[in-house]
Amino acid sequence: MASSFSYNPSQNLAILLLVAFITNYLVLVAVAGNFNQDFDITWGDGRGKIVNNGQVLTLSLDKASGSGFQSKDQYLFGKIDMQIKLVPGNSAGTVTAYYLRSEGSSWDEIDFEFLGNLSGDPYIVHTNIFSQGKGNREQQFYVWFDPTADFHTYSILWNPQHVVLYVDGTPIREFKNMESIGVAYPKNQPMKIYSSLWNAEEWATRGGLVKTDWTKAPFTASYKSFNDDQACVWSSSSSSSSSCSNTTSVMLSQELDTTSQERLKWVQKNYMIYNYCTDTQRFPQGLPLECTAPAQ
Ligand SMILES: *[C@@H]1O[C@H](CO)[C@@H](O)[C@H](O)[C@H]1NC(C)=O
Ligand SMILES: *[C@@H]1O[C@H](CO)[C@@H](O)[C@H](O)[C@H]1NC(C)=O
Repeated sequence: MASSFSYNPSQNLAILLLVAFITNYLVLVAVAGNFNQDFDITWGDGRGKIVNNGQVLTLSLDKASGSGFQSKDQYLFGKIDMQIKLVPGNSAGTVTAYYLRSEGSSWDEIDFEFLGNLSGDPYIVHTNIFSQGKGNREQQFYVWFDPTADFHTYSILWNPQHVVLYVDGTPIREFKNMESIGVAYPKNQPMKIYSSLWNAEEWATRGGLVKTDWTKAPFTASYKSFNDDQACVWSSSSSSSSSCSNTTSVMLSQELDTTSQERLKWVQKNYMIYNYCTDTQRFPQGLPLECTAPAQ
């Protein structure tokens, strides 16, 4: 008779474990973000896929089409992280683009573009920054690891002071707000996150000399661990405002500390392969204004 009320420690333990499991699971999901919740696959007719319960997204490219996705939210400032594993093997001719972009003809844009290569030859990380429809601010880099062997974190920090592009936490490029000398700065147009995998064999690899090898298709890039916890989500409903969490306010005023400045110099010295700011042939009328100001 007493048996149904008897204390059973193993049952309690089981419940505890279950609670612990559920709590952990929720925490993990919250931290890692969920592609189903945050993104839409926008083109590619099934070539873009969200798998593993929303934890991983893959894009693929074959001769008929590439594919792409975009964020559901728009952002006005923030730090946004994404882990990407680029197309492995012979990826020559392919481009994986990952960027922020606003709408309209006078748009703002912050770009990472990964230009594929023959097996064993280095990818190029191509970057650009548009303000009010004007780009032409390319900088290109090699990276210090094989970006196809594993996932690496590519981050964009965008606040009123500067835009910083990071690879695995190391800044590779800084674009400062130089409105004071007349250079337009992206600061009032909200942007969505976009990514696409497409064929750019006309120019991507060694300037278009190496074409895409379609016998290696489909080409696939993978994404995980998206994090926008420190970004300001813009809401059009409440009269052009954006909502930021408290940790974000720190990000909004963040500048590069001494260590980060050293790292940035190290990357620019050892891994930068093109800088529009030193391309005097391209700008015979004079380098862009931001290039001649100190410390750009
Ligand atoms: C591909 O490899 C060649 C040879 O090492 C190199 O010159 C080029 O910068 C690499 N990257 C791309 C995207 O062309
Ligand atoms: C943010 O943090 C500050 C102090 O650290 C606190 O006073 C303020 O109420 C917080 N704001 C929100 C929206 O949580």
